[in-house]
Amino acid sequence: MIKNFIFYAIVFLPGSNTFDWDNEEIGTPGAFLIRNNHHSEFYLKSLTLEDVPSHGVIHFPCNSWVYPASKYQNDRVFFSNKTYLPAETPISLLKYREEELENLRGDGKGQLQEWDRVYDYEVYNDLGNPDKGPQHARPVLGGSTEYPYPRRGRTGRAPEYESRLNLALSLNIYVPRDERFGHLKLADFLSYALKSIVQVLKPEFESIFDKTPNEFDSFEDVLKLYEGGLEVPEGVVKVIRDNVPLEMLKEIFRTDGERFLKFPLPQVIAVDKFAWRTDEEFAREMLAGINPVMIRSLEEFPPASKLDPKVYGDQTSTITKEHIESNLEGHTINEVIIERKLFILDHHDALMPYLRRINSTSTKTYASRTLLFLQKNGTLKPLAIELSLPHPEGDQHGAISKVFVPEEKGVENSLWQLAKGYVGVVDSGYHQLISHWLHTHAVIEPFIIATNRQLSVLHPIYKLLHPHYRDTMNINALGRQILINAGGALEVTVFTSKYSMEFSSMLYKDWVFPEQALPQDLLKR
Ligand SMILES: *[C@@H]1O[C@H](CO)[C@@H](O)[C@H](O)[C@H]1NC(C)=O
Ligand SMILES: *[C@@H]1O[C@H](CO)[C@@H](O)[C@H](O)[C@H]1NC(C)=O
Repeated sequence: MIKNFIFYAIVFLPGSNTFDWDNEEIGTPGAFLIRNNHHSEFYLKSLTLEDVPSHGVIHFPCNSWVYPASKYQNDRVFFSNKTYLPAETPISLLKYREEELENLRGDGKGQLQEWDRVYDYEVYNDLGNPDKGPQHARPVLGGSTEYPYPRRGRTGRAPEYESRLNLALSLNIYVPRDERFGHLKLADFLSYALKSIVQVLKPEFESIFDKTPNEFDSFEDVLKLYEGGLEVPEGVVKVIRDNVPLEMLKEIFRTDGERFLKFPLPQVIAVDKFAWRTDEEFAREMLAGINPVMIRSLEEFPPASKLDPKVYGDQTSTITKEHIESNLEGHTINEVIIERKLFILDHHDALMPYLRRINSTSTKTYASRTLLFLQKNGTLKPLAIELSLPHPEGDQHGAISKVFVPEEKGVENSLWQLAKGYVGVVDSGYHQLISHWLHTHAVIEPFIIATNRQLSVLHPIYKLLHPHYRDTMNINALGRQILINAGGALEVTVFTSKYSMEFSSMLYKDWVFPEQALPQDLLKR
């Protein structure tokens, strides 16, 4: 029988130390306790015991910040890199494993501090800032049937609406200590956040957005983004300089002067400034663009709706076979459906219930359906775009729809370009808010919390999952500060405006865990 035991690492950091070993009496080490008697924290990467009699080398991966002993109730414990199911865990380790899980669960009370390692659940009650007026109030997401949402990590700040931290002051928001990332990742995040909020940092950009703030007046304005970059206000530059190491600054800024944001020129523009206007490029981006996770094979014609007809009336698509059959390389619709050559980018059902609310903001948009055909040579061709609005006399009267088809010339060509533009706006917004934020960042956070609360680090599933969780809680916490909050980057850049987060809550109702993996996701589509 392997005896396991716990020993104290009487800090010998860094470097190596020698001590005597009586294997008869003390057996094989399975964990060690460590107490930091210094005044400040240190990062403990790992501990290795060499020449353990009748064992050789024993390795203890730690990867953790260890704070002064006064900050903890118990000494910190680290286990050797063995893997055990709960029933097989050596008895001598069980107590430490249990205690460690209790520490990580916390007691649900009080404001959590920098050194805490607590993984606890909270609803999204910190998005709005109702003290600033009704325009800044947002519903609490999570914990209700009206607004279901994945849980986030608890910080224990003020119970109702968490007091908002000021970006200009600090990006310090509680996450369990070992979830915090270093400077490199922060630079990445800030660079993204900045590039999206920079458009609303008036009046600094009025030289570009002169007569119509927040809008580009010409293609030259757009191209200037890549050639000249956008100038950043001095205050914001200071926040970045304070948070980002020098070598990362050149990722964010153009090298000269450090006040102009760098936007790398997209390849499609580098080759041809107007290539993005072609139907080929529009269709190519359905697969190789930012949101390739929506397009699906169309199995019924005309495309149907899953919206409740009692509430929304007839929402069936008004696209007819006359709209598209001339572009099917001589095939009928039935044939191309059977051969699975007909595809749809369907943003109809998701948007329709929210259009009236979105329309009450300064954003105007449409629900959209885009049909595409897989041609003989393996490229996709857009066949038709349907843009829809709710009926002016009430939802129960169904949708008011218009169908646009590819035209080479004249006003029809301009309308077709515009229709593609609306699809691009809706699809890129859906990407940011749903595919990227909700389906990637938000849904994984409760899994991170649950794993840390329920599985000991010795558990094989813990070891399997842990690398996939890296940085997510921290990015999400920063995201709540400056991206998804009321008035944050997401609301000012995505078409859903101030309804963004509740819109994502509505779509979370359709999120089903087993459908997220491969091959199920592809089979479903
Ligand atoms: C959207 O709002 C505008 C006013 O800003 C109004 O004229 C229009 O009818 C509205 N459209 C819908 C579909 O509600
Ligand atoms: C594929 O076929 C279509 C229709 O014949 C044509 O317009 C397009 O240029 C072709 N694309 C490629 C990459 O060959």
